[in-house]
Amino acid sequence: MADVYLDNSSTTRPYPEVIDLVSRLQSEIYGNPSSMHEKGVEAEKQIEEARRQITSFFNNREDEIIFTSGGTEANNLAIKGAALRNRNKGNHLITSMVEHPSVLDCFRYLEENERFKVDYLPVNNKGLVDPDQLKTLVSKNTILVSIMHVNNEIGTIQPLEEIGPLIKNLNPTTLLHVDAVQSFSKLPLKFKAWQADLISCSAHKLHGPKGVGCLWAKKGILLQPLMHGGGQEKEMRPGTENGPAIAGFGLAASLTGANQKQKAAALASLKLTFYRGLQQEGIDFFINGPPAEESAVHIINLSFPGLPAEALLHALEERGIYASAGSACHSRKPEPSYILQALGLKPERLESALRFSFSCYNDEQEVNYAAAQTADAIRELKLITS
Ligand SMILES: Cc1ncc(COP(=O)(O)O)c(C=O)c1O
Repeated sequence: MADVYLDNSSTTRPYPEVIDLVSRLQSEIYGNPSSMHEKGVEAEKQIEEARRQITSFFNNREDEIIFTSGGTEANNLAIKGAALRNRNKGNHLITSMVEHPSVLDCFRYLEENERFKVDYLPVNNKGLVDPDQLKTLVSKNTILVSIMHVNNEIGTIQPLEEIGPLIKNLNPTTLLHVDAVQSFSKLPLKFKAWQADLISCSAHKLHGPKGVGCLWAKKGILLQPLMHGGGQEKEMRPGTENGPAIAGFGLAASLTGANQKQKAAALASLKLTFYRGLQQEGIDFFINGPPAEESAVHIINLSFPGLPAEALLHALEERGIYASAGSACHSRKPEPSYILQALGLKPERLESALRFSFSCYNDEQEVNYAAAQTADAIRELKLITS
């Protein structure tokens, strides 16, 4: 069997259509989108087409999309941009303990360098924040709340339909930012029900190019730009646009978003097949975070007590199976994932946790093979270590 790539939450394989489009545009549509001549106009057209494709997931207002270099920059622009621009309204910010580092580090920066007060919401053993606890924190000083849609390590889906209205009832001027990097175009984005003001997205999680993403900023939301320079992206993100990558992002989002329901059902089925395959093999394992049926369709996090995650990861790699120990951003760091720690897991589970994440490029045969090989690798490692 060829390689089985089950690390799709780290990044995904680009669609061939996206690769074709990006490389064609690199060689043919090379003008600067800001140039007045024909070459510039044709480059700008590609960006505007991508903007239309992305806005179809929001409310079709093209002036609400700011293209960025990815999810990290979108999160930085949303959080630091909103906090710094709106500090005249208050100095209180709220987020959760299980956000991506590109969110958490912005809050730490604002706390340590800009004298904001930040509350970090804990989560329960499924990785869920408690709306009642959030209720006790929102005050007239709260200018921004940032809660992710889908957690990148354990797949928890936060109750944003409850959280958003709750925040707005307590303080209508508090902004809600949602990091939707793991869910954009894969799961329904109920931004109206969430009453969201800012949403971050990234292309490489949905079979698009790396280094491109966007921030959706509802009309009227004031942000302070992070960089200064040319007037691109309504002066919110200066610098000559990466037109080919932006076009690739638009195409990837529309391809991923087409027949979303069927695709989500197919991913959920792959995940459950893998999970049940492991159960049938009779090996010991625990699921971290929500039960498999409750988490996002493409992510499952499992602990195999008694086996260090790194050893299992390498054993799997030798068998052509690619998974992840913690998130990609953390997997080179030896300490256990802060997200799993926030669930209150015992050290044995923290040290033996692996994430498996699926995409449309996986199939039933692959995941059955991966489950059998995982069980086999575990049995082999246990023999060596016993
Ligand atoms: C939830 C979440 N937010 C933000 C990011 C950062 O996105 P990017 O890699 O496009 O900077 C990631 C990437 O892993 C993520 O999973």
